[in-house]
Amino acid sequence: MEEDRIISPILENSAEEKLENSLRPQNLDEYIGQDKVKENMKIYIKSAQKRKEPLDHCLLYGPPGLGKTTLANIIANEMGSNLKVTSGPAIEKPGDLAALLTDLSEFDVLFIDEIHRLSKSVEEILYPALEDFTLDIIIGKGTSSKSIRLDLPKFTLIGATTKAGSLTTPLRDRFGIIHRLELYSPKDLTTIVKRSSKILDVEIEEEAAVEIARRSRGTPRIANRLLKRVRDYAVVLGDGHITLKIAKHALNKLEIDELGLDEIDRKILETMIVQYGGRAVGIEALAATIGEELDTIEDVYEPYLIQIGFIARTLRGRQVLPPAYRHLGYEC
Ligand code: ADE
Repeated sequence: MEEDRIISPILENSAEEKLENSLRPQNLDEYIGQDKVKENMKIYIKSAQKRKEPLDHCLLYGPPGLGKTTLANIIANEMGSNLKVTSGPAIEKPGDLAALLTDLSEFDVLFIDEIHRLSKSVEEILYPALEDFTLDIIIGKGTSSKSIRLDLPKFTLIGATTKAGSLTTPLRDRFGIIHRLELYSPKDLTTIVKRSSKILDVEIEEEAAVEIARRSRGTPRIANRLLKRVRDYAVVLGDGHITLKIAKHALNKLEIDELGLDEIDRKILETMIVQYGGRAVGIEALAATIGEELDTIEDVYEPYLIQIGFIARTLRGRQVLPPAYRHLGYEC
């Protein structure tokens, strides 16, 4: 089941969302990793505050689970502003967006997750709102309709997407600040696992934190999920203290391998090696053969497989590489 996967997205209002919220850093100094983004954002935030202006609109993109929502929270906190959270699919009609925008106060931060999924008619309302803080609304129908212009409070939009390439150019051009979030290093993930353990009041050996970090495919959300599952093993099989031995045992039971790959990753690689004989394959064909959504493969699985050098994107399609053969025990 989708919800049981270690790599799946978070369900709204779930216990897991509450856990993720409790582990969320509240300011930039507490936020681990993404050093370039942090450094730049600190300057932009200070400058906006000195100029007594809202922060420029920001676009954050990158694979899921890297902290786009967390960063939006932190940016609002650091600016001393309120954060309003919504998502592309939740804004169905232009009227929905108009209602959100007219409800904002001066300097509020509006966070739109999955911003690439806004409809065209909604996007068109957004352009003047972003550019001039105005809202154009049409009253009435046909020849007697009138357009009126309303002033909006000055606000900051933070848009998040896993698919920067799917954003229309006019929308993309209206963001003054664009940052790509990178997969985290094992070192940063170890620090995150130790920080989360402290918040969860769980004792953890350094080597166990390193092990969880190594198998978290560069993603804090996965690291925190694995930590919680490993804690269950520690509580049931031991005294609640997470040792390296318990961590390894639990991670093996979860079928997360040494590199953090799960059954879907292995299915992707095996299909490319066995079924396609190691030739380049189109992502559509691959998705159909495996029976997974194309978007899930592209946004969730592929970034890490590319990062560790198991897959390359080529003009002819996705190419499986020698380290993937070796990892799965195939000759190439
Ligand atoms: N928890 C999840 N992501 C984090 C991050 N980047 N820094 C600190 N704690 C986190």
